[in-house]
Amino acid sequence: MNSLFSSIKLGRNAVVKNRLSVAPMTTSQSHEDGQVSASESAWLERLASDGYGMIITCAASISRTATAFPRQMSLADDSLLPGLTALATTLNKYSTLSVVQLCHGGSRAIPALTGVEPRSASAYDLPGVPGFIRPRAFTVGQIHGVIDDFASAAERAARAGFGGIEFHGANGYLFTQFTSTMTNRRQDSYGGNLQNRARFSREVVRACRKRVPAEFVLGFRMSFEGFPPETGLDIDENIQIMNWLAEDGIDYGHVSHMALSSPSAKYPEKIALRHIRAGVRKELPLVAAGGVFSRLDAEHALEFGADIVAIGRAAIGNALIPEHFKRSEKLRTTPFARESLGSIAVSKELIDYIAQSPLARMNIIG
Ligand SMILES: Cc1cc2nc3c(=O)[nH]c(=O)nc-3n(C[C@H](O)[C@H](O)[C@H](O)COP(=O)(O)O)c2cc1C
Repeated sequence: MNSLFSSIKLGRNAVVKNRLSVAPMTTSQSHEDGQVSASESAWLERLASDGYGMIITCAASISRTATAFPRQMSLADDSLLPGLTALATTLNKYSTLSVVQLCHGGSRAIPALTGVEPRSASAYDLPGVPGFIRPRAFTVGQIHGVIDDFASAAERAARAGFGGIEFHGANGYLFTQFTSTMTNRRQDSYGGNLQNRARFSREVVRACRKRVPAEFVLGFRMSFEGFPPETGLDIDENIQIMNWLAEDGIDYGHVSHMALSSPSAKYPEKIALRHIRAGVRKELPLVAAGGVFSRLDAEHALEFGADIVAIGRAAIGNALIPEHFKRSEKLRTTPFARESLGSIAVSKELIDYIAQSPLARMNIIG
């Protein structure tokens, strides 16, 4: 098993100094127009100074019509480049691999913010989800437009000086909406069999690979199995897609779970991460997240097959986790007290966002 403090190479020549990454976390603290704010920058700088080998930012929108959160960081156009460049320059000072997560909300894009009705792979309903607006299906021409928007956003991330991007193919956003048999009912070349449902993700990755330098890191985050009410994902299909994406040019895969040791829904006798590692081609490094609150948890993740361990909630409430892990010290666990968060550069905006959003169900703040 690799040590948490050994380095690893991603892609052509990015070196990640240890096996600890910050998990992507939406913070809703950018400016209304998607510009990086001082509080977003201070938050990410605190994480970079904590000593992680890799920092993955919040899910950032790739275009104005992709916006899925209020005050979401954006890479929609060149007017955003100065702020993005300043952020990348700050993070790079800490010799951490700086990765921007790229997201299109699809059916979860918010009309009040985008000015247009939501679009997805298909029209579908989610009965029982308050406020869910039935999206319209993208035309093929619109799909090509979204692919181009991803490629332009990827190019902007590279121009700004980030080390890489991660596609947000987890948690029910647009990539998942194309992959899932529940939300994709198309009958053209983007729907139906697995090749067709994977086509959108594959074309996005290929288009981005062409527009960024060869050493720029591309990662793809995935929910391998669905969470109700959005189901229709199959772990083995997603392993196949991850292997195709590796052919298309990604440098790492990212397994998104709430608990790293959770069993697969399809194979309840197996730890899902072990099953995924066994199926994904060996050369593709895997990042995995979910419930890491101690050095032992992180070591279990490596044992189950992760190459890099991503830390979300614990990273909000604890500064300097890599140092704590070196000394096998205990971390603060959720719920975190507001005062303790304030003392480690967690902004009031972020604390309020977590407290008021559905994430409060995760019981982060006491
Ligand atoms: C405040 C918050 C915001 C999140 N935002 C994102 C996001 O933007 N993109 C994403 O892929 N996952 C997001 N997640 C999920 C985390 O990346 C992670 O997978 C999850 O919290 C489990 O890891 P943990 O137990 O270490 O927190 C978010 C989680 C939290 C707590």
